[in-house]
Amino acid sequence: MKHKPKQEGVSRRDFLKLSAIAGTGIALGAAGVGAIAGIVKPDQAKTASAEGERIPLYGEHQAGIVTPQQTYMYLASFQLTGSDRSSVIRLFKDWTKFCDLSTSGGTMKTGDNALLPPSDTGETLDLPAAKLTITFGFGPSFFREEGKDRFGIAAKAPRYLKDIPRMPRESLDVSLSGGDVCIQVCAEDQQVAFHAVRNLIRMSTGYATVKWLQEGFISATPGKTPRNLFGFKDGTANSEHDSSSGYDEVIWAGEGEPAWMKGGSYLAYRKIRMLLEVWDRTSLKDQEDTFGRYKESGAAYGKSGEFDAADATQMPATSHVHLAKMSKQRIHRRAYSYTNGIDPRTGNVDAGLLFLSYQKNPDQQFIPMLRMMQSSDKLNEYTSHVASGMFACPGGLREGQYIGQSILEG
Ligand code: HEM
Repeated sequence: MKHKPKQEGVSRRDFLKLSAIAGTGIALGAAGVGAIAGIVKPDQAKTASAEGERIPLYGEHQAGIVTPQQTYMYLASFQLTGSDRSSVIRLFKDWTKFCDLSTSGGTMKTGDNALLPPSDTGETLDLPAAKLTITFGFGPSFFREEGKDRFGIAAKAPRYLKDIPRMPRESLDVSLSGGDVCIQVCAEDQQVAFHAVRNLIRMSTGYATVKWLQEGFISATPGKTPRNLFGFKDGTANSEHDSSSGYDEVIWAGEGEPAWMKGGSYLAYRKIRMLLEVWDRTSLKDQEDTFGRYKESGAAYGKSGEFDAADATQMPATSHVHLAKMSKQRIHRRAYSYTNGIDPRTGNVDAGLLFLSYQKNPDQQFIPMLRMMQSSDKLNEYTSHVASGMFACPGGLREGQYIGQSILEG
């Protein structure tokens, strides 16, 4: 093992390690981007072979929104524990640095001081970036918590950000809902995705606590629409706005928003349990009537191809797609399935959908649609909503900027 020249003083990295050892948060001194000293950029060989595996962190929009869905997802919600803006800035700078490294297949330098825990947990040292994307969103409580402008940023709150209002037929678990910051981590390799979320959590020590963490998966032959756990193709209608003008119409924030929302979007989240045992005893006809689409082909009732334009008049009035069409709104869905063992109360499988949709105006698009579905959707016989969240996702990052900078500074 090579020995590195000893550094003067105690580095930020050592502080992080010490804090990890102590298992407690330590207030860190002036840190900032670059504070995670000692980084390992991917080596040349890894760079060449992994080039196609990288999704750039920087751009007009955050990656992970219109990016084709990767196989694995973690969704983590954090509550900020600091009371001053500078501690939030420090955390966001460190997170940004880590995102820059990990999405390009690099890691924090590891193993330089045998007496401290390594800077990087290490499980991706030999793995490529695996199309890792890390997408940030901010909840209503980030801007104002119980009426308090705790970070002095309430005036920067985006136009439509609020918790999803109470809906009929829901019994939500508040401990699994909302949060100050939501991070959606997606990758083609589960270990790469978990490594990212684990290290983001690790770096938040002393600044934030994890409120909830969900993991999901979705799988399809490349170019085909993935199927959800009811066996139906899920995401077909996204093709209707799959163009940059379609994204502008459906996804990206519009006029009257603060500057930092330019190129951003609103993320609506619902954790929806799917009652697989009930569904699996349901006839194929009833299953297809639930959606208004044929199970195998994914075509809308009365049509033959998956992408043939759906005609709501040919579907049962309570079917899911009929109701979506009646709302006359479009949203960009990016849902993942989840499984979570067995429900000990019933012995049934605990599984369902981590419903995620991105839209420019949730008041106009998502909320009325959800309300209509919660009241009349035939799908309600087979589902129950257990958690909820709404987050504003800023526009993309420029190199040298840190996530949330335009909210927290200036
Ligand atoms: C477990 C819950 C859910 C399941 C299993 C589910 C499944 C599906 C399926 C199979 C389709 C048809 C294919 C497609 O276009 O993707 C679909 C369409 C759609 N779903 Fe859901 N969905 C769920 C919840 C929701 C929720 C909560 C919303 C929004 C409030 C929603 C909004 C839509 C929309 C907008 C469409 C497209 C309809 C169209 O224009 O053709 N879904 N969903």
